[in-house]
Amino acid sequence: MLERGARVLIIGGTRYIGRHTCIAALVAGARLTLLNRGQAPFGWLAEHPEVDRLQGDRHDPAALEAAFSRDYDVVYDMIAYRPDDIRPLLHTYADRIGHLVVCSTTSVYAPALYQPIDEAHPRGPHPAWGDYNRGKNAVEDLLATTDRVRTTVLRPQWVFGPHDYQRLATFYLVRLAAGLPIWLPHAGIAQLNWTYAPDLASAFLLVTSLPEAAGRAYNVVCDETLTTIDFIRLCAQVLGVAADIRHYRPEDLPGELRGQRIGPVRNLPLACTSLALKALCDFRPTPMAEALVRTVDWLRGSGAFDANQLTPVEEYLNAQG
Ligand SMILES: NC(=O)c1ccc[n+]([C@@H]2O[C@H](COP(=O)([O-])OP(=O)(O)OC[C@H]3O[C@@H](n4cnc5c(N)ncnc54)[C@H](OP(=O)(O)O)[C@@H]3O)[C@@H](O)[C@H]2O)c1
Repeated sequence: MLERGARVLIIGGTRYIGRHTCIAALVAGARLTLLNRGQAPFGWLAEHPEVDRLQGDRHDPAALEAAFSRDYDVVYDMIAYRPDDIRPLLHTYADRIGHLVVCSTTSVYAPALYQPIDEAHPRGPHPAWGDYNRGKNAVEDLLATTDRVRTTVLRPQWVFGPHDYQRLATFYLVRLAAGLPIWLPHAGIAQLNWTYAPDLASAFLLVTSLPEAAGRAYNVVCDETLTTIDFIRLCAQVLGVAADIRHYRPEDLPGELRGQRIGPVRNLPLACTSLALKALCDFRPTPMAEALVRTVDWLRGSGAFDANQLTPVEEYLNAQG
């Protein structure tokens, strides 16, 4: 558990998951340093002058040298996509790091042999996830070989919540609130899990400094496993509207629209559990309906419901009726 006064470095702490983790660490009384390039908006940090923000690229040796001119009780690495990202931490700066907690993904798993997937399921190549899967697996492979730093890996799935600039759940919520149809290019019946971003932030804090978490990886997901269609229905229920879900066949689109995707969530079956994390610590995911209510509150407050940017494929399908 992250202790009051702990020295924390977050690599990539200004945008989505990193931002939630930053706020959670501040609430817990950590002494916080962030390393990021300054490309993502960070105006919100003005409210937290106690945070030491270092501007630099993690691939720039000078930026790392500056960041690791001091010791940290824990480093939260949000943006390790390839082994080279993480190698300097494990070699050059190992002595500066008490515990390294790395954000990975459930996309590291090979195609599901059984459901729900726990951490014992084999990792490996997955045709749907390409380079992302390969890079994240290579990062996890490298972490597994290190003996100089205590490391822990967290694997979220589809992340939703406030500051969802990637517009995953937001994609559906905005359309539902506007009374627009949601077009699915697939049946939407694959069982999957979501991760509520503030729950993921709390998982970072909870595993911190736990000796039993050393060398381990944990799924971090909400308890509910549900299909995309039922997720959309749940979103509609939270908003108090009806869901108008329609299906189309991508191959029926006119040539210029063919190959364009709409909707963020793919129809990949991946049911996961967080049982290992719950057994380790006091991780209790927020019920999804409650998490969606909070997400909707944020969307209302941020004005996101006013901006309906439909994709060309949706414009076409809506016109067809
Ligand atoms: N979002 C999801 O649904 C999801 C699902 C599963 C797993 N994950 C994992 O979650 C992690 C975090 O994702 P996210 O969506 O929170 O990322 P994000 O919102 O894109 O945030 C990236 C952060 O890293 C900083 N950054 C990017 N490149 C950098 C560099 N070269 N050097 C220093 N700072 C850099 C960014 O700030 P600057 O641009 O200012 O540098 C920003 O603070 C990733 O590892 C991802 O694989 C995400």
